Amino acid sequence: MRTDGWPTRAAVFGATGGIGAAVCRVLADGGVKVQAGSRSGEAPKHHLIEPFRFDLTDEASIAAAAASMADSPPDFILVATGTLTLEDGTGPERSLKALDPAAMARSMAVNTIGPAMIARHMLPLMPRDRRWVFAVLSAKVGSISDNGLGGWHSYRASKAALNMLVRNFALEMARTHPQGAVVALHPGTVDTPLSQPFQANVAPGKLFTRRDAAVGLVRVAGEVTSADSGKLLSWDGSEIAP
Ligand SMILES: NC(=O)c1ccc[n+]([C@@H]2O[C@H](COP(=O)([O-])OP(=O)(O)OC[C@H]3O[C@@H](n4cnc5c(N)ncnc54)[C@H](OP(=O)(O)O)[C@@H]3O)[C@@H](O)[C@H]2O)c1
Repeated sequence: MRTDGWPTRAAVFGATGGIGAAVCRVLADGGVKVQAGSRSGEAPKHHLIEPFRFDLTDEASIAAAAASMADSPPDFILVATGTLTLEDGTGPERSLKALDPAAMARSMAVNTIGPAMIARHMLPLMPRDRRWVFAVLSAKVGSISDNGLGGWHSYRASKAALNMLVRNFALEMARTHPQGAVVALHPGTVDTPLSQPFQANVAPGKLFTRRDAAVGLVRVAGEVTSADSGKLLSWDGSEIAP
């Protein structure tokens, strides 16, 4: 896809994820230089993609990544990380009795606190005199008003908290950076390892490919204005109520 001159450079945190890797490729194929972060230091192979290493649960690694970008900061930052089934195999809770404090804390660490630490270190690098977009991948299930089904307690709560932080950071940045935007993005249901165990109930035609999701997300980020700052936006640009 053409990116029409924006962004001039991008940073993707979560470059090994299903969606994150696809976004890196879409941007680089459009001529954008991408700094692509992951725990392993892996990233899609492309001459415009430069890998870096970070871990969401290691703030020093995030600070070091941000410091390495300080001289020429990206004007599009995407946090594409997240967890639904934990690495020890713990799946999302369906009932009160499934609640486990350690699993809840891990969900919050990865889905809420890690992205907040990326914001803490990346937002101060943003220019005051031109447009930039800081986006985090959230989820529609983090909308409280949309929740008619329940379940997935920690995941929903961690994304609702993330959406609140996005709103807070948007308000704080608007005071000094009137052309910037901090947004949460819902990618739709996308065929990745995160959604794989839960795809059986997805309606036909509603499961997006990684590339389609990436194209939609890059398009929405390209259209976001400062008036959108603080919102949760869907892959088609529509707003999802908190
Ligand atoms: N797929 C969907 O249908 C869907 C729907 C709604 C929202 N979302 C959201 O979209 C985002 C991306 O999801 P996805 O489907 O692309 O998932 P995915 O393929 O499972 O990718 C998850 C990414 O998060 C990274 N990650 C996890 N823990 C980390 C840590 N401690 N430090 C650094 N990176 C860490 C993983 O890195 P490693 O490779 O190192 O493990 C991987 O890059 C998530 O926030 C998810 O909630 C997805």
